[in-house]
Amino acid sequence: MQNTRQRSHTERSSTLKAVPFFTQLTEREFDVVGSAATEKQYPKNAVVLTEGEMGDSLYMIQSGKVKVFIGDQDGREMILKLLGPGDFFGEMSMIDKQPRSASVTTLEGSVFLVMSHSSFEKCIEQVPRIATIVMRILAQRVREADKKIGTLALMDVYGRVASTLLELAVNDNGKLMVSEKLSQQDLANMVGASREMVNRILKDLAERGFISVESKSITIINHELPPSL
Ligand code: CMP
Repeated sequence: MQNTRQRSHTERSSTLKAVPFFTQLTEREFDVVGSAATEKQYPKNAVVLTEGEMGDSLYMIQSGKVKVFIGDQDGREMILKLLGPGDFFGEMSMIDKQPRSASVTTLEGSVFLVMSHSSFEKCIEQVPRIATIVMRILAQRVREADKKIGTLALMDVYGRVASTLLELAVNDNGKLMVSEKLSQQDLANMVGASREMVNRILKDLAERGFISVESKSITIINHELPPSL
């Protein structure tokens, strides 16, 4: 499924410079990372990592979008995070050599720079600052996970939908929009509710003038989304 292609060193290094994660690196450091990583392309809806499987590679997202989720035996899933260009995933198993903590699938065609555990260790030997960058991002993830635990434990579904919409929304020419390629089922899987419940809440928010729902996007009209019914 996936397509691995080797590109020239310079080409890869120039791509890395576009990834926010690496903007702090010097030219020499870029070269070290660039030569340690292999580019892989995946189509839309491809499984990149499977929860519970072994693996030791780190994936840096060059382009595209993925969802990180955990599932149960009945096929239900909880989406932990959506990641896009400049983000990385797979670092947990790469660091602790335990099975993958979550599954990752592509939401659109995506290109990753993939680095094995041994290449990452070599990189760190040559560019120790990379370890600091990874630690900073891990700390940020724990903060976000704490926030999510709080939202799930303390808010009702209405508030969880509202806070997830605000979290996903981006400013598009002065309009706050959620234009992620997300289905209502995906949104339900992000807030731990049924699709029917999410559908009802979106309708209610639209009727009350807080949002408008178009076929491919949701516009937030009033930023003060109500935390409950
Ligand atoms: P790993 O356990 O190797 O494989 C699954 C990956 O999903 C994991 O590394 C992280 O990169 C990513 N991941 C797991 N939990 C979260 C989370 N709460 N937020 C963002 N990414 C996560």
